[in-house]
Amino acid sequence: MRDELINKITNKQAQAGVIGLGYVGLPLLVEFAAKGFRAIGFEVDENKAKSINEGHSYIGDVPATRLNEMVKSERLRATTDFNNLSDCDVIIICVPTPLRKTKEPDVSYILAAAEEIQKRLRRGQLIILESTTYPGTTDEVLLPMFEETGLKLDEDFLLAFSPERVDPGNPQFMTHNIPKVVGGVTPDSTTAAAHLYSQIVNDVHAVTSARVAEAAKLLENTFRAVNIGMANEMARLCYALNIDTWEVIRAAATKPFGFMAFYPGPGIGGHCIPLDPHYLSWKARQHGFDSRFISLAEEVNSRMPEHVVQLVADGLNDERKPMNGSNVLLLGVAYKRDVDDVRESPALSIIDRLRAKGAKVRYHDPFVKELRFDDAHIEGSGEPLSSVPLTDDELRSADCLVIVTDHSDIDYQRVCSVAPLIVDTRNALNGDVRRGSKARIIRL
Ligand SMILES: NC(=O)c1ccc[n+]([C@@H]2O[C@H](COP(=O)([O-])OP(=O)(O)OC[C@H]3O[C@@H](n4cnc5c(N)ncnc54)[C@H](O)[C@@H]3O)[C@@H](O)[C@H]2O)c1
Repeated sequence: MRDELINKITNKQAQAGVIGLGYVGLPLLVEFAAKGFRAIGFEVDENKAKSINEGHSYIGDVPATRLNEMVKSERLRATTDFNNLSDCDVIIICVPTPLRKTKEPDVSYILAAAEEIQKRLRRGQLIILESTTYPGTTDEVLLPMFEETGLKLDEDFLLAFSPERVDPGNPQFMTHNIPKVVGGVTPDSTTAAAHLYSQIVNDVHAVTSARVAEAAKLLENTFRAVNIGMANEMARLCYALNIDTWEVIRAAATKPFGFMAFYPGPGIGGHCIPLDPHYLSWKARQHGFDSRFISLAEEVNSRMPEHVVQLVADGLNDERKPMNGSNVLLLGVAYKRDVDDVRESPALSIIDRLRAKGAKVRYHDPFVKELRFDDAHIEGSGEPLSSVPLTDDELRSADCLVIVTDHSDIDYQRVCSVAPLIVDTRNALNGDVRRGSKARIIRL
């Protein structure tokens, strides 16, 4: 079965299906179509499927012109009809993997996608899970579901895990030039999945099992969470000691070995770094293991919004202004630079805390027109907000401006010359920009 599928892949006769067309799934679908495969995307959201079929991209990293060209040439389409899964030789699952309120993994989206596959599984198919999850999901959860159909692994179907490493908003690294780790539940599964990805990415790294691939992804993101936690702790220490954190990091980073620069910020956000380590610590607990680095990083990182609000309060206090009734303007609410994603963004927690203290909060973000707190997965309260234009009047009337996201397309020099008090959590106002500024600047 493996060799038949490999031949079909080599000849581009294999049909590729991607389930879940978000930040991960849509770029992947486009990559398959670009490399000559017939690509079909499966969505539960009718609006997304419709938008794709009309050639409209809702993902920043996928240019509408590229998508449109593929739709027009009938190489790519999207559907909400899962019956089309039986036409696919390869099916890749890219659905969300959030946390429950208890911070335990919520694999219900994976299960829902797998049930659709299970109903239609046929001989000759390769199933790959790309959603980030705990080690064991592919062989402990998916394999038994697919074997319930009576079909046999290796004889009838193949199953693998391949973590997604896409970095939305990063123009240097896209799907095709980010090395791809691939681990099959069996050696045949690894071989077929590695062959598939070698058609669309430059560099494939095969490992001996799905579990290794699952764990590798969690190591990568836990590494980031822990190191950002350390940078945040260092920033708070430097603040207490009145030392410039950013200058310290710049100096340390001149060491050409044994140091990798990580930077502090207002807190971590997005669908990955705040969530993924919990998938690992949950699995660890099942085995009576306490993952202490993960807990500590979470503790430090989750306190950063509170620290930012304290900096605002300190700044206002120096001006003899109470937080209650002060105008606070946030510059940037997306979780990172140049993206429109507000999932788990620290801005939401900062706004919530500022409002709880009576501040009147507004924001400007060129990528995020509206902010609804029910989207944010925080226990937040309050009315939705809309981005306000960054006029001189807006800057001048803010008792405090807080730079939460350092989007590129902002004139920071002008911001510095008009706003009276600024809390800069991203070092957006680095040396040259600050020079000659009239604003009082408090840096993280
Ligand atoms: N966003 C990132 O930067 C990133 C990077 C690496 C890995 N990941 C991982 O990739 C996975 C997907 O993340 P994302 O950011 O693309 O999520 P997303 O929310 O942007 O997209 C997921 C899509 O899946 C759809 N969906 C949900 N259930 C479905 C179902 N049963 N059938 C079909 N479609 C369904 C949703 O409507 C949505 O469009 C997650 O596990 C995430 O941790 C994300």
